[in-house]
Amino acid sequence: MTTEGRTGQSKPRVAVLFGGRSSEHAVSCVTAAGVMGAIDKDKYDVIPIGIAKTGQWVLASAETNEWSLSASSLPEVAPSAQTVALAEIGGEHQLIVASPNTVPEELGAVDVVFPLLHGPFGEDGTIQGLLELSDTRYVGAGVLASAVGMDKHFMKVVFEAAGLHVGPYIAVTDRQWRNDPETVRKRVDQLGFPVFVKPARAGSSMGISKVDSIEGLDAAIETAREHDPKLVIEAGITGREIECAVLEGRGTDAPRTSMPGEISVAGGGHEFYDFNAKYVDDAAALSCPADLPEEAITRVRELAAVAFDAVGGEGLSRVDFFYTPDGELIINEINTMPGFTPKSMYPQMWKASGLGYAELIDELIHLALHRKTGLR
Ligand SMILES: Nc1ncnc2c1ncn2[C@@H]1O[C@H](COP(=O)(O)OP(=O)(O)O)[C@@H](O)[C@H]1O
Ligand SMILES: [Mg+2]
Repeated sequence: MTTEGRTGQSKPRVAVLFGGRSSEHAVSCVTAAGVMGAIDKDKYDVIPIGIAKTGQWVLASAETNEWSLSASSLPEVAPSAQTVALAEIGGEHQLIVASPNTVPEELGAVDVVFPLLHGPFGEDGTIQGLLELSDTRYVGAGVLASAVGMDKHFMKVVFEAAGLHVGPYIAVTDRQWRNDPETVRKRVDQLGFPVFVKPARAGSSMGISKVDSIEGLDAAIETAREHDPKLVIEAGITGREIECAVLEGRGTDAPRTSMPGEISVAGGGHEFYDFNAKYVDDAAALSCPADLPEEAITRVRELAAVAFDAVGGEGLSRVDFFYTPDGELIINEINTMPGFTPKSMYPQMWKASGLGYAELIDELIHLALHRKTGLR
C-alpha cells in the first residue's frame, strides 16, 4: 500500500466504524452521521460499518438521518444475519461479508479505519489492538494512549507524573470496596464533600453522581459500579469548565492546539454536565473561544499539549480543565475520541480556530494514512 491509498486506486477507502458495545453506542451513531455527512466523497470512498451492542460488525446504512438522536429514540445498530470482518487476503486488508452457509463475499480493500467509537471496546485500546494486529491504519490514538485516556485512574497517574495539576481523588477497586467498605468511606470523608463518584472507565457522564454527604455515598458507588467495578472518587472542584482541542502535528511537528472553549450548564435541573445535559436536553452552552484572559488561553493550550504528549496521544484529543476562581487550571480528563458531531465541542473549537469540520476530517485521515501500524 502507498501512503495515499492502494496502488492503482485513486480514492483511499475509509471504513467508518461506529456504534459499539459501550453505553455510548447511540452517541457514536450520531457522530458517524456527522462524519459521513461531511466527508469529502470525491476524495474518499466511505464504507459504513456498524458494531451492534452484541459486538457483531455489520454493513450499515450510509443514510445519515437514520442515526440522529432524540429523547424518544436513540439510534442503534441492529444485529444482522450478515457479519462483516476484516481479513488479510492476498496481502491486502479486505473487508468480507459472511452469512451462515454461504461463501464469504469480498467487499474490497480498506486503506484506513475511522473508529468513531466512544467508551469501552472502542476508545479504550481494544479496537486499536485489533487494527494493529491486522496491520490496518486507523485514525486517532494507539493502544496505550487509548487505554490510559479511558481509565480515569491511570490517566491521573500519568498526568501527575507529567507535572499537571490533578484534583484530590481516590481510586477504589472492586476488591477494596467488597472487602473493606468502611475504609473506603473514611477515605472519601477525608476528601471532603461534595464528591463526584465515577466509574473509572466510562464516558458521557454515564454512572457519575455528585454526592453532597456521606449518606448518599453507598448508593452513588453502586450506581457507578453498574458501569465499572473500578471507581474514581474526586473532591468536587469549583471552577469553569474549559476545554482545548489537540490535533497531532504533521511529520515531526508539535501537536496543534485550538482556541479553548467553555461549557456551561444552563438550568434544567442539571447539577453538572450530565448525560441529559450533554445530549438530550441540549442544556449545555458551548462558547468558543472561551472568554479568558490572554495569559490563561496560552496556559490552557500549553497544558493541553503536555497532556496529549503525556499519554502518547496521536491523531486527536480533547483535554478538559477546571479553571478555578483564583486562576488555576486543574486537569479533569483527556478524551482520545471526543464527541465529534458537527455541533460537538472538538469540531467547534477547531472551527473557531480556522479549521472547518470537513477539513478537520480530511486532516485526521491524512495523518492516519501517513502513520504506520506497529512501533512508531
Ligand atoms: N471533580 C469534579 N468537580 C466538579 N465537577 C466535576 C468533577 N468531576 C466531574 N465533574 C462534572 O461532571 C462532568 C462529567 O465528568 P467527567 O469526569 O468529565 O466524565 P466523562 O468522562 O463522562 O465526561 C464534568 O463535565 C463536570 O461537569
Ligand atoms: Mg468529561
